[in-house]
This record gives sequence, structure tokens and C-alpha cells, in this order.
Amino acid sequence: MTASLHLKGATALVTGANGFIGSHLVDQLLACGCKVHGLVRESSNLKWLDTSKIDLHRVDLARSDFKVPALEELDYVFHCAGLTKAKSRSGYFQINAVACSNLYEQCQKRGSRIKSIVHLSSLAATGPGPQGRLVDEITPCKPVTFYGQSKLAGEEIALQYSQSIPLTVIRPPVVYGPREENFFTFIKLIQKGWGLQIGRAGKELSLIYVSDLVEAMLKASDPSKQKGRSYFVTDGRVYIWEQIAKECARIMNVDVKTLKVPEAMLVPVALFFEAWSSFSSKPALFDRQRMIDIRQSSWSASPENFFKEFEFTPQYELSRGLAETINWCQQEKWL
Ligand SMILES: NC(=O)c1ccc[n+]([C@@H]2O[C@H](COP(=O)([O-])OP(=O)(O)OC[C@H]3O[C@@H](n4cnc5c(N)ncnc54)[C@H](OP(=O)(O)O)[C@@H]3O)[C@@H](O)[C@H]2O)c1
Repeated sequence: MTASLHLKGATALVTGANGFIGSHLVDQLLACGCKVHGLVRESSNLKWLDTSKIDLHRVDLARSDFKVPALEELDYVFHCAGLTKAKSRSGYFQINAVACSNLYEQCQKRGSRIKSIVHLSSLAATGPGPQGRLVDEITPCKPVTFYGQSKLAGEEIALQYSQSIPLTVIRPPVVYGPREENFFTFIKLIQKGWGLQIGRAGKELSLIYVSDLVEAMLKASDPSKQKGRSYFVTDGRVYIWEQIAKECARIMNVDVKTLKVPEAMLVPVALFFEAWSSFSSKPALFDRQRMIDIRQSSWSASPENFFKEFEFTPQYELSRGLAETINWCQQEKWL
């Protein structure tokens, strides 16, 4: 850990503290000597949190009257809570945008000690780029999904408050590592000997290992570096899915057959899952929004501005990140 002298002895709020990224961030903040307040829901699964080490607050950000806990004590706010799957466009906007307004309004009015806020957005807020070209912070934002549109709206709200509170927006690409379940499904399929190729081969993406993202967020909270801007943070490389599948197979020592699924098959599958989920309160496992995501030929971004301005160097390239993730999945008996 290199980034965090300013955090020693400070008090931080992490929203989405029990989530994949939030729980790793909590671990690192504790390791930096921070007092941590974790915002979770009544229904949140707390399995990745050591609840004896943090102050937990049950707050539903979907409620318009929610109160930010411990506000007068906070030096730092890390806003990690977000919805990556929802049943409707308004569901995404309620959490990823409207809740930000309410959160930052309270921070501005009553968070007199707050030194900086880190707002976790997503590459989805900018949208995909053309194959062979990285998007960067001056690329016009053209989100292609409700999720991306809601993350962009959340960023815009956050940046309005950056006039009065030091604030940095971080836009990660796909984040992978221990405790994450979507990327794990991909690894699990490889372990069973199957690689999935949807549409044509060679679709590009950026990645970041969760420890690197957390380290970047700690750096981004440094009050001396605040410019009220958005930054992409990736591991600095661009991958294609076939390369990731090959690397997973090498680490697990399995032979993989590639199952080629034509994109045209995605529509009926998405419609089936959407119809199925209409009988449940949960969003569909796969829907037409996810289909739009998958169809894009490049989800890759340049992190150069963040690297330069925050003197950040990621520690994990693909092989090391995957090896640690697979090792963790094996230890936890997920694989
Ligand atoms: N993982 C990625 O690849 C990735 C990439 C780019 C950006 N991001 C962004 O990173 C953030 C964290 O993502 P993640 O991967 O860690 O997802 P996650 O594991 O699903 O965590 C999301 C967190 O938000 C909380 N949350 C959702 N709705 C809430 C509500 N109404 N009130 C209070 N808390 C609520 C969740 O609580 P529950 O556990 O109770 O649902 C959970 O703690 C999100 O903003 C996401 O957009 C993630």
C-alpha cells in the first residue's frame, strides 16, 4: 500500500460497503488506519465485512428521505453504492443518479469536515469506442444502456457539487477479483471446458484488478490532488475475451472448446429471461440491456491522465490478477 498517508487516523464513509468493490475498499481503509462507517441496506449480505471493525449504518438510498450517517464526523466519502442490474430505466436512475443528488446535497450542507469525495462511476457512462481506439476523458459521452445513462447522470450531479466539495470521479472498466460473481461465471465456464464466443471474435476490453482499483480510489481521495474531474482507471492494457479465456485455461490447466453463439440468438434469450423475471422482484439475469453491452466491439479506455496526475502505477496485469482470483475461488470452494 503506497497511497494513503492522508487517510491515517481519518474517518471515512463507504456507501455500498458490503459490495464487491466496497468491501475491498473497506479492508484497505482499515489497513490505512482509517475509522470506517459503512452504509449498507437492511437486506444487505454482510459476508465480506468484518462487522466488528466498522460502524454499520442501514440506509436505503432508494428512499428520498435517507440520511447520510455520521456526516459531521466524516473526512472522506467513497460513494461505491450503485445498481448494475435493474428491472427498469427508472430503477437505474433512482440509485445511480437521484440518490447522488440527495447524498451530495447533505454532504455540502452538513459535511463541514469533508476533505474529499470519490465518486465511483463507470466506463459505461462514456459508452463503447470504435475497435482499435481507446476512449479518453475528452471522448464525448454516448452511453448505450440505461445503466450507462444513469451512471453519466450520477457523474454530472457529482461534478456539480465539485464546485463546493473537492471531488473526483473514477470510471473503471470491468473490475475483477475475489468476491466478484459475474466474472466468476466466465471463469467457471472455462473450468468446465467451455469458452463462450458471442458474435464475432476479437472484441476488446479494458480491465482492472480490484486491489488496483481500490489503491487508485485511495490516491484519488488525496485532498491536494482534487480537480473536480472524471478519470478512467484501468490496468493500462487492452485485452480481447479470447485472450482472457486462454489465460484462465492455462492457469487452471484445462482444455477449452469454444462455443460460438450468433448474436441473433441473444434477442430470444433476453426476452425469455425478461418474461421470467416479470414474475419476480429481481432483475433478469440476462436482458436486452445486457445484450447491447455484449454486442459492442470495444469497451476500452486510456487511463493515462489518471496515471500522470495521481502518480499511479497498477500492480496487477492479467496473469497475476487472474491467478490470484482463481486461487481465491479455489480456496473458497467456488471452483
Ligand atoms: N464491478 C464492476 O465491474 C464495475 C465496473 C465499473 C463500475 N462499477 C461501479 O462500482 C460500484 C460498485 O459496484 P460493485 O461491482 O461493487 O457492485 P455490487 O457488489 O453490486 O455493490 C453495489 C453496492 O451498492 C449497494 N446498493 C445498491 N442499491 C442500494 C440502495 N438502494 N441503498 C443502499 N445501497 C445500495 C449494494 O447493496 P446490496 O448488497 O444490499 O445490494 C452493494 O453494497 C457501482 O457504482 C458500479 O456502478 C463496477
